[in-house]
Amino acid sequence: MRILIVGSGGREHALAWKLAQSPGVEVFAAPGNPGIARVGACVAGAPLEAAQAVGADLTLVGPEAPLVDGVVDAFRARGLRIVGPDASAARLEGSKIFAKRFFVEHGIPTAEFVTAATADDARGQLDRFGFPVVLKADGLAAGKGVIVAQDLAQASAALESLHGALVIEECLRGQEVSFIALCDGRNALPLAATQDHKAVFDEDRGPNTGGMGAYCDSAILTPGQEREILERVIRPTVAATGFTGFLYAGLMMTAQGPRVLEFNVRLGDPETQPLMHRMASDFVPALVAAAEGGLAGAHIEWKPGPSVCVVLASRGYPGAYEAGKPITGIEAAEALGATVFQAGTRLAAQGIETAGGRVLGVTAGGADLAAAIERAYQAANHIHFEGMHYRRDIGRKGLNRYNKG
Ligand code: AMP
Ligand code: GLY
Repeated sequence: MRILIVGSGGREHALAWKLAQSPGVEVFAAPGNPGIARVGACVAGAPLEAAQAVGADLTLVGPEAPLVDGVVDAFRARGLRIVGPDASAARLEGSKIFAKRFFVEHGIPTAEFVTAATADDARGQLDRFGFPVVLKADGLAAGKGVIVAQDLAQASAALESLHGALVIEECLRGQEVSFIALCDGRNALPLAATQDHKAVFDEDRGPNTGGMGAYCDSAILTPGQEREILERVIRPTVAATGFTGFLYAGLMMTAQGPRVLEFNVRLGDPETQPLMHRMASDFVPALVAAAEGGLAGAHIEWKPGPSVCVVLASRGYPGAYEAGKPITGIEAAEALGATVFQAGTRLAAQGIETAGGRVLGVTAGGADLAAAIERAYQAANHIHFEGMHYRRDIGRKGLNRYNKG
């Protein structure tokens, strides 16, 4: 079977790495990256052309932009198998205002909010929920359209950088969890829960990024919490939209229960790296079932121990970042038992160099969370590029929580 993956980041490398282990599967990526080229073939062209050129039996879409643009509709119109939501369902990620209205209409628990058509309209509403307050740009912003403002001065200043319509919402407290389910239009198969680390610096300081690291561990949610999220968030959404593909609920686990912060209509990045690393089952049968509407009764096995992914980023990220810095130490890191997923990399004459904000995702497993964290950081220590920075506390929230018992 020929599987095409659309995208070029660490998420897509992790998918390619996992699928290439399935018997009888050939992996292609459009456009892919040098890491993906180690396990599959990278091809040029828009998704539809690429799928036709390689004769793909199944296509998976990594990033949100092609989904919002209707790539799934285009594939289906030609009878091609693809995993992802149509453009109509992709609005759950494409517009925060649409998503908030959807939550209210379907009784899905979420933060209190108001919407504003312009920054000027927002000015009078900034103190509506006290402080801190959360401001969100309506449209797609690559994880950077959300600002948590501590006081009125910060909130007013934030309005300068958020253009167009926006959402103003109460700031929730609790553990943040990424809950992703593979859906076939009727059925939802939940993947293991993960926790991302969005802020650029340790202890969640600094601006938000696309994600600086994530871990996957069976202890992130209790079975009861998982059931509650499935029943109150995922199933109502699938029922209302006929959702197909990956439905990703970004949740705050508050004292009052789960609250949806956002929906994404795709796999998370970097959540996919520890998810693929920890998945024990062959993923291909579930993906085919999702594309064909046959997910009822499907099941996925996970390795008992957790997996941890530490993102290594370029100087300046999440702002303007440097590129073209030679990368060394990937082999040494992998010799320690880690898997290094490539994101913003390119092949230069002298070898692999940086080409993006998030460059690598060093991913490792262990018997317990502490061991997995230790192995990931030991491996990361072997990697070098000029200006490299990363968080030193990926997974520590899990350790703190479990130790409280
Ligand atoms: P979003 O893109 O909506 O997930 O927001 C990005 C990040 O901002 C989230 O992952 C949270 O860390 C933070 N955030 C968003 N909404 C809230 C909220 N209502 N309360 C607290 N933090 C939030
Ligand atoms: N890691 C967060 C996201 O993929 O949106």
